[in-house]
Order: sequence, then C-alpha cells, then structure tokens
Amino acid sequence: MWIFGYGSLVWKVDFPFETQLVGHIKDYSRRFWQGSTDHRGVPGKPGRVVTLVKDPGNSVWGVAYKIRDDLREDVKRRLDIREQGGYNTSFVMFYPREVEKEPFLSMLYVGTEDNPNFLGPAPMAEIAQQILMSSGPSGQNTEYLFELANTMRRLVPEAPDQHLYTLEEMVRELLILCSSSSNNSSNGSVVRAQ
Ligand code: SIN
Repeated sequence: MWIFGYGSLVWKVDFPFETQLVGHIKDYSRRFWQGSTDHRGVPGKPGRVVTLVKDPGNSVWGVAYKIRDDLREDVKRRLDIREQGGYNTSFVMFYPREVEKEPFLSMLYVGTEDNPNFLGPAPMAEIAQQILMSSGPSGQNTEYLFELANTMRRLVPEAPDQHLYTLEEMVRELLILCSSSSNNSSNGSVVRAQ
C-alpha cells in the first residue's frame, strides 16, 4: 500500500513506512479550503488546512509512503482517525520524480466539497487572517502552514506552489505587523506609565 501525502502527511510523519518517494499527482490543486476543528482549530472557530480540488492540467507535489503489508491495517486505522475531520480515502495515479520509476496507484486523504468541514474558497487575505488567528489540539494553524511551505520548498524547489507560498508570505507579514503594533502599544503604555 502506498499513501500520498500533500498536507500534514508531508511534514508530520507519525506512522511507520518502508520507503518514501517525492512526486506528484495530476489534475489537482492544493488549497487551504478545508476547515479544521480537531487539529488546527476548534468547533465554532475552525482553522484552515489543505485539501485537493480538481484542476485539469495542474499538478500537486508531495510524498508517497510505502507501507509494509503486515502494517497496512494498523497504519490505515491510525490515519483514518487522524484524518477524520472530513477527509475520505481515494486512489490516484502517483508520478515519482525519478522518471525511470513507473507511475503507480496511491491512496490519499481528500476533503471533498460535500464534507461538513469544507470551507471552500475565500479571499486570500481572509484565509491568511483565519490561519493567523486559529489554533487547536495539534497546535497553531500557522505552524501547519509554515511547516508545509518549508518542507515543500526543501523537497521540490523546482515546482513552487503559488497558493501555499503566497499565504505563507501574507501570514508572515501579518505576524510582523502584529508584533510591531504590540511593541508600539507596550512602548506607549511604558511612556504613559512613566
Ligand atoms: C495530507 O496531508 O495528505 C492530508 C491532509 C492533511 O492531513 O493535512
């Protein structure tokens, strides 16, 4: 069994695997359109995590993991729990980066638009703001975004993901703005207190 990861499964690998391959799947885009109420947000205040949307002609890069036969059920059971916030399994053709390797079918987890946590598109500034403000049992939503962007940049520098890197830049800018405005207001209070 092979599992293709394109989100947290790229950088947070908490399951045993035999081999991993960097590569891509075709005709999809990676989008921060899936709400997270169990990892990077809470019910009523969801964070935003990635899912895949159909996009003919585009590719999504990620990592495929080969799972040992005797561990298949156990790994699948654990991942089904980890990905239970709206993701379902599906199978796609995976194309390894090494061209001499043949494409093969891989399982993946995808949050389709009919799942209850699907948020769908929104202006990038709104998505960035939501990521900045959200956190949940697994940690801050910003960590999810930054880890994914850093890992994808390291693994596949030749295929930049505009949606991912634009959001990363916007959230980093918002963080700088927040820290400079909180510095200013704390300086202000020091001045007033003196
Ligand atoms: C994945 O990483 O492949 C699925 C989505 C996620 O867990 O972030």
